[in-house]
Amino acid sequence: MTKHLLIVAHTPSENTRRMLAAMIDGAQDPAIEGVATRAVAPLKATADDVLSADAIILGTPENLGYMSGALKDFFDRIYYPCLELTQGRPYALCVRAGSDGTGTRRGVETIVTGLRWRAAREPLICRGDFREEFVEQARELGMYMAAGLDAGIL
Ligand SMILES: Cc1cc2nc3c(=O)[nH]c(=O)nc-3n(C[C@H](O)[C@H](O)[C@H](O)COP(=O)(O)O)c2cc1C
Repeated sequence: MTKHLLIVAHTPSENTRRMLAAMIDGAQDPAIEGVATRAVAPLKATADDVLSADAIILGTPENLGYMSGALKDFFDRIYYPCLELTQGRPYALCVRAGSDGTGTRRGVETIVTGLRWRAAREPLICRGDFREEFVEQARELGMYMAAGLDAGIL
């Protein structure tokens, strides 16, 4: 049966859009056959999108020491509709931060702890001046999550 990977990422810049494209590309690696990947912008993503996902990747820049307002709006809308129904969902976090990232990590982790989602791996914090390796790390994260779902080990 096909598993569903949902990517909810706010991508206000060319660099973050490149990272998202690579993440999708990694998740759609030809070796991964049993996973359907959907990327939805946080302002458009709904509780139904989350309910129908087997795993979730969250992506956000750090803005003013916190996750983007768009990702926060996503959580504000899905929190209660999902609270009882998505406990244990594996998720991963990708933060693009000009210099820090810790406030965003803490903010997201506080919310997903409330939701009782389960970290599938350490957050990917892409910090500092933009580097090409961030694109490859995003690709690898997409592949990791999709391959893990495909293998039934997430
Ligand atoms: C209004 C604003 C606030 C920001 N605040 C932070 C911040 O608190 N911490 C941080 O590490 N980066 C901060 N940044 C930098 C962004 O995280 C970064 O520009 C964004 O991730 C896009 O990355 P890019 O420049 O590689 O496209 C801020 C950027 C903007 C526009």
